[in-house]
Amino acid sequence: MSSILIIPKRIIAADKKGSILKNYSVEIKDDRIARIEKVSAVKLRLFKGEIVHGEDLTLIPGFVQTHVHLCQTLFRGMADDLELLDWLQLKIFPYENAHDKKSLAASVKLGINELTLSGTTTILDMGTLRHQEVIFDELISSGIRAFAGKCMIDINDLFPKFKSTAKAEVNESRLLAKAFHNEGNGRIKYGFAPRFALSSSAKLMRETKELMKDFPSSIFHTHSSENTDEIKTVKKKFKKNNIEYFNSLGVLDDHSVLAHCIHVNKNEVNLLKNKRVRVAHCPSSNLKLGSGIAPIPFYLKKGISVSLGADGAPCNNKLNMFNEMRLASLIQKPKHGATAINAETVFRLATIEGAKALNLENEIGSIEIGKKADLVLINLDNSIHPLVEDDQSMYSRLVYSGNENDVQHVMIDGKWVVKNAKSQIFDQQEILLDANQQLKNLLKRV
Ligand code: GUN
Ligand code: FE
Repeated sequence: MSSILIIPKRIIAADKKGSILKNYSVEIKDDRIARIEKVSAVKLRLFKGEIVHGEDLTLIPGFVQTHVHLCQTLFRGMADDLELLDWLQLKIFPYENAHDKKSLAASVKLGINELTLSGTTTILDMGTLRHQEVIFDELISSGIRAFAGKCMIDINDLFPKFKSTAKAEVNESRLLAKAFHNEGNGRIKYGFAPRFALSSSAKLMRETKELMKDFPSSIFHTHSSENTDEIKTVKKKFKKNNIEYFNSLGVLDDHSVLAHCIHVNKNEVNLLKNKRVRVAHCPSSNLKLGSGIAPIPFYLKKGISVSLGADGAPCNNKLNMFNEMRLASLIQKPKHGATAINAETVFRLATIEGAKALNLENEIGSIEIGKKADLVLINLDNSIHPLVEDDQSMYSRLVYSGNENDVQHVMIDGKWVVKNAKSQIFDQQEILLDANQQLKNLLKRV
């Protein structure tokens, strides 16, 4: 059994009470938090195991991103300043279509490296059409916690080469789920991923939901109501608004994560609430693609599940949670006033609310005894801050002035994936070089 004792300056727990603890240590046994107790000199002297002196650092739960596309990391900066449907048609679908196993592996490695270095310990990834097993292999070997699944596409008017059939998509998803659901000491779970209403038929969506019965704890993951041209096309094709259409297919419940949910009517808001659907809010992506601003304060008031994601590198172009937290708060203020979403609320969206969205709130998302050890040590004391250290000022440091470069150590499932701001998994130089070569090769296939 491995034992690790972490002694931080303070713990921001994201538990029910919103505890901020000072002079406490956290003991980790194997993959779980075994004890949280006052620092004791005797215990320190007698402790047999690794002691991590983080007396200048703050311990927080790892961030949970509920919507990312690892396969797109290679395409950062290659699809700037476009709206969603052009962005997909002209750039993203052709690029994803050109992936082979090597370019996909390079993209995924680059993405996981960036995510873990900036404190994200759990993701919900959308996958891509082909070679999904490569993504699973990389997820498993990287140590990250993830829901993932092959992106299913059986209609594609935007880029017809990039699709398969409903039957093949459902069959392949079944095989992948059988092979990978609950792998990696339970870190990996299957997230069934029909891409969006315009690329996945009603048959595909319905059969996917049926298939999920064989994989309890899996997730249904798709995009919804992101862009006005998108929802107009959905309305024209299906005579319904996007979320109403999904509801008519029977795919909405507390295992459904819908990315975006920006352009919605009153009835759709009620559906999100009553069906207990999870909204994955991606503020950077929504701004960069000019999609709009999701009515998040309203969702929160209604008690709808909201969590955060960076989406993909070509629509962000960063993958770290600090940007998403900051923007999630700031973009609401011009319309709803400066009190719209405060820093503590946003920090909870980035941690425990992400865990709840994935039905993992008993396992991750906060620092509590018995939970998995998904932990981040960050320096929140390298700048000037109010001299009175109240709780609010701690959330302010994280959300308004927090920075991915302040992340020092990251643990997932009780194992260090980042130490002293250096990945323990990837050689940065090596994966960058490989990514460059793979991108060069991929562009010849577009
Ligand atoms: N809708 C369908 N596919 C995508 C995608 O890759 N990114 C975003 N932001 N929206 C989508
Ligand atoms: Fe997306």
